[in-house]
Amino acid sequence: MMKSRANIMVIGVALLIVIGFFIFDQSSQARTGADPKNPEFVAMGKALYAKNCASCHGKNLEGQTPNWRQPLPDGSFPAPPHDASGHTWHHPDAMLFKVTKYSRTQSGDKSFKSNMPAFEKTLSDNEIWSVLSYIKSTWPDAIQQRHDTLNQQYRPSQ
Ligand code: HEC
Repeated sequence: MMKSRANIMVIGVALLIVIGFFIFDQSSQARTGADPKNPEFVAMGKALYAKNCASCHGKNLEGQTPNWRQPLPDGSFPAPPHDASGHTWHHPDAMLFKVTKYSRTQSGDKSFKSNMPAFEKTLSDNEIWSVLSYIKSTWPDAIQQRHDTLNQQYRPSQ
C-alpha cells in the first residue's frame, strides 16, 4: 500500500518536471520568424501595434499618407503602409525585425534619414515578433506564401 503510493508520488513529480520543462522551453525559445497563424500571438502583436506603431504607420496599417513614396520636405520618407499595398512584404522577416529593433539608421545605413525610432529599449524580441506576426496576418494568403518563400530564399550574411 505504502509502496504504491510512493510510486504514484514519483510518477507525479516526474510528470510535473516534464510539463514544467515544456512550458519553460516554449517561453524561453528565441523566435526567428513571424508566426501569423498563432491567434494569441497575433492578438498580442495587434495591441502592441496600436500602442507603438499606429501613430505613424496608420491605425489600419495604411501608412502615414497615400503619397508615402514621396520624400517629405526635410528629405526623410513618410511611414509606409504595412498592409499588402506597401512594400513591407517584399522584405524578409530578419530585415523587418532588424529595422524595428534598431531602426534603419542604426542597422547599417547611416546616411539614411529616418523618423522611425528604434524599439530596442521599448519592446522585447518576442514582442517585436508578435507585432510582425500581426502585420503578416493581415496580408492575403497568397502574399503570406510569397513572403514564406522569400524567407526561405534569404540567407543572412552572418
Ligand atoms: C514616429 C513614427 C514611427 C513609428 C512610431 C514607427 N515607425 Fe516604422 N517607419 C517610420 C518611417 C518614417 C519609416 C520610413 C523610413 C524608414 O524606413 O526608416 C518607417 C519604416 C518602417 C519599416 C521599414 C519599411 C517597410 O515597410 O518594411 C518597418 C518594418 C517599420 N517601420 C516597422 C515599424 C513597427 C513594427 C513599428 C512599431 C513597433 C513602427 N515601425 C513604428 C516611422 C515610424
